[in-house]
Amino acid sequence: ILNQKPLLIRHAKQLVTLAGSSDKPLCGQEMNDLKIIEDGSVWIENGVIQKVGKDEEIIKHYLHRLAEADTIDATGRLVTPGLIDPHTHLVYAGSRENEFEMRLKGATYMEIMNAGGGIHATTRATRQADHAQLFTESKRRLDQFLLHGVTTVEAKSGYGLTLEHEIKQLEVAQALNEKHEVDVVSTFMGAHAVPAEYREDPDRYVDKVITGMIPEVARRGLAEFNDVFCERGVFTPEQSRRILEAGLEYGLKPKIHADEIEPYGGAELAAAVDCVSADHLLKASDEGIQAMTEKGVVGVLLPGTAFFLMAEVASGRKMIDAGVPVALSTDCNPGSSPTVSLPLIMNLGCLKMGMTPAEVLAAVTINAAHAICRGHEIGSIEQGKKADLVIFDVPNYMSLSYFYGVNHVHTVIKNGKVVVE
Ligand code: NIG
Ligand code: FE
Repeated sequence: ILNQKPLLIRHAKQLVTLAGSSDKPLCGQEMNDLKIIEDGSVWIENGVIQKVGKDEEIIKHYLHRLAEADTIDATGRLVTPGLIDPHTHLVYAGSRENEFEMRLKGATYMEIMNAGGGIHATTRATRQADHAQLFTESKRRLDQFLLHGVTTVEAKSGYGLTLEHEIKQLEVAQALNEKHEVDVVSTFMGAHAVPAEYREDPDRYVDKVITGMIPEVARRGLAEFNDVFCERGVFTPEQSRRILEAGLEYGLKPKIHADEIEPYGGAELAAAVDCVSADHLLKASDEGIQAMTEKGVVGVLLPGTAFFLMAEVASGRKMIDAGVPVALSTDCNPGSSPTVSLPLIMNLGCLKMGMTPAEVLAAVTINAAHAICRGHEIGSIEQGKKADLVIFDVPNYMSLSYFYGVNHVHTVIKNGKVVVE
């Protein structure tokens, strides 16, 4: 980064800054206030946003240095913070198009999983893959995320389900974080499924996660978060609580896959153990939603998963109105949401969950940053933040969630450098 020229982005038709919410996520009506600057410009230096404002203001301030900078003319275009995906299962091997066909013929996601497919199928493929293969397959997805304007992703393990293979997955995520432009934030999810070997005694697997995996993953510094699939037939609320509390003892911040298939007390548990986020929430109870609001637990909603599983989406509208800070994510994974298109998820947020175009943009920027404890670093365009920005070839933010299935990314700037153009 040393000796890197300053970068000046000028004349954005709309510069969506989302400024002023680094300390806590946007809630309720606040999600509609995107803090937009018209004819906006941004001065970037050393990978950091230095100054944001109207073009005339920025030019006046940097008049003596204009010749030094690389300049991008964003006339007529939309500039937003780099998009953030706070829930992915990025690192895995293989694919499951065969199960897609089974589901189209009527089999359910859980039936397929209980018959040894689903997460178990991807676990077999992931265990067989070595580091290099996993890296190559996952990098391809990360490249595609970037092309869709995503500059940070969270990535979960959970297709290893043994210490050795969970570590392998987390090491791949770490290597991707180091070598790829996109930042990768790691989550340990040894409690993604009870592996076939422990089918008869799931509590023994829970013990293994708690005593054998969490301490070692934490000791190696391979994860920042700890996640569990709390669902009937997977992990009970009691088991989930033990796992999340064990993680907390080792400094792993709790997250939870909650109330996806049926109401199961997941949202309530998220509030009780102060989860950073509770994700899915299709069947979350009103009491659970209320408890999340009180604790400020971020609700990470995954409408692509509901779409792909042909299920009813979570009630995004209801949660925002109840005061839950809502974020959106792809849930990128080979079984329930094989996509990297966060912009498509934004369309679904509007069309299926009753969210406004402003709310869905807040949900994939500043609120997504808070869902991975990065509110002070990313998610908005303001002085001192990491210079992760996207220039879209549309004139306003509404257009982003209006056109669907179209990639409008024009330029991606990551750490102050143009990485897609
Ligand atoms: O978030 N719900 C559990 N886990 C993933 C799906 C993983 C898979 O099917 O491979 C999810 O939807
Ligand atoms: Fe998931």
